[in-house]
Amino acid sequence: MAIREILTVPDPRLKEVSKPVMGPVTDEHRALMDDMLETMYDAPGIGLAAIQIGVPLRIIVMDLAREGEEKAPRYFVNPEIVETVEETKPYEEGCLSVPDIFDEVERPARCRIKYLDYNGNPVDEWAEDLYAVCIQHEMDHLEGTLFIDYLSRLKRQRAIDKVKKAKIRAIREDAN
Ligand code: NI
Repeated sequence: MAIREILTVPDPRLKEVSKPVMGPVTDEHRALMDDMLETMYDAPGIGLAAIQIGVPLRIIVMDLAREGEEKAPRYFVNPEIVETVEETKPYEEGCLSVPDIFDEVERPARCRIKYLDYNGNPVDEWAEDLYAVCIQHEMDHLEGTLFIDYLSRLKRQRAIDKVKKAKIRAIREDAN
């Protein structure tokens, strides 16, 4: 396993549409998911899409366990939302590709998803609460959409500028 670099805005790769995994889930995909999980835990975050480490495949990892709880990794290959409820809920979202920016996004409160798990077994289940928020946020990444894309143009530009500035600062500090 290895910790990979997480892309941050405005990296154009984050706008790419990810491709489905063709054929069965292989050891190569599992190695990628292991790296993604380790990278996500290290960040730390609760969800990560493959494109966030520069791999344009429809693969997501997630762990919604709270601090002090046992780890509960979840893996999603080719996830699809097949049904949503009309009721929406706001949630203050953040993203490892837009570090230190948080803002409210309104999404369907529950959604039914289909995907292949770590071993390639098909799963069909309803997600609610934080699980519903997180899977919809991560699946947006597969379409090249970030949570800041739901904000006003001004807020989005401010967020990107803030991330850019923080990155330049970090590089300068590293050099000193
Ligand atoms: Ni994100």
